[in-house]
Amino acid sequence: MNSNPTQIAIFHFARRREWFATQNLCPYRQQMVLSRGMIGSQAGEPKVACPFHKKTFSLQTGVCLSGEEYTIETYPVRVEEGRVYVGV
Ligand code: FES
Repeated sequence: MNSNPTQIAIFHFARRREWFATQNLCPYRQQMVLSRGMIGSQAGEPKVACPFHKKTFSLQTGVCLSGEEYTIETYPVRVEEGRVYVGV
């Protein structure tokens, strides 16, 4: 049994009609919180803002858009017949 499971955060960006998936762990302070972050756009790029200290990350590339060197894992998402599939 895996004692260190990966938590995935799944985002439904309704306005863009897109889904995204990333790691749930915010790399800034190692908190499992990104699924509770606020989503939005920055220069057309979909992003999530960590609810704690507001570091923002691209939902497409995982790059930190707050100008720091943190990155998060992103995963492909496919929706078929009402089911959401995440490629991990
Ligand atoms: S834990 Fe994410 S920015 Fe602080």
